[in-house]
Amino acid sequence: MQDTNTKQNSKKDFVNNVFNSVFKKYDLMNDIMSFGIHRLWKENLIDWLQPKLNSKLIDMAAGTGDITKIYIERTKFTGHATLVDQNVEMLNESKKKVGHYKNINFLCASAELVPLEDSSFDYYIISFGIRNVTDIKKTLKEAYRLLRPGGRFMCLEFSKINNEIIDKFYSVYSNLIPHIGKLVAGDKKPYEYLIQSIRDFYNQEQLLDLMKEARFINNEYRNLTTGVAAIHSGWKKK
Ligand SMILES: C[S@@+](CC[C@H](N)C(=O)[O-])C[C@H]1O[C@@H](n2cnc3c(N)ncnc32)[C@H](O)[C@@H]1O
Repeated sequence: MQDTNTKQNSKKDFVNNVFNSVFKKYDLMNDIMSFGIHRLWKENLIDWLQPKLNSKLIDMAAGTGDITKIYIERTKFTGHATLVDQNVEMLNESKKKVGHYKNINFLCASAELVPLEDSSFDYYIISFGIRNVTDIKKTLKEAYRLLRPGGRFMCLEFSKINNEIIDKFYSVYSNLIPHIGKLVAGDKKPYEYLIQSIRDFYNQEQLLDLMKEARFINNEYRNLTTGVAAIHSGWKKK
């Protein structure tokens, strides 16, 4: 038990250190590394969600707040958002981006244990966060608990490419990313972690299985850019 706890704490500390060293250049590096495509993927997620006016979102692993910003704009500024992140520096960056909107709350907490009431939200979104959590099963269980019956879970994450040519190109390109990180952000290591964590992460079907195990229903996914990333969607039973 102690061993498991030590392992979990060390991943949490490691991931926190990664984001402590990139938070200032996080948005810039995202634009450079993805040629701006991450913005389209995030828009795509909210297109699929079609959030209702006056709805309530939990933006888990919110980072610098991109998802909340799109969501609030799409709900014509009637939506309520709670941004959760375990990293204070990232959460502070999000305050600069979305702190001026009304109906916004910020919470520094881990996805595995969120100090909020059951059935509090219409939507739970985790964008490029689930790959970083220490315990994915606990995270999904918490997501289910936090959603109201009939609420929707959505996850945007790097995934597995289904096109051989793009896969080869991507594999070569991935090896350049730590060097770009060194040039732009002055540090290679966080970007080595990024690449390795993408390689180690589940494929589309495995993530669907985990969602099913966490009791989500009507689970499905859509590939983005031939599976470089994917959006997973599931629902809490009514
Ligand atoms: C790659 S960023 C994604 C930020 C944003 N959602 C986006 O799409 O740009 C990952 C974020 O997850 C946060 N994070 C990592 N593990 C977490 C955990 N277990 N609980 C809450 N936040 C976590 C990090 O601090 C970081 O801000």
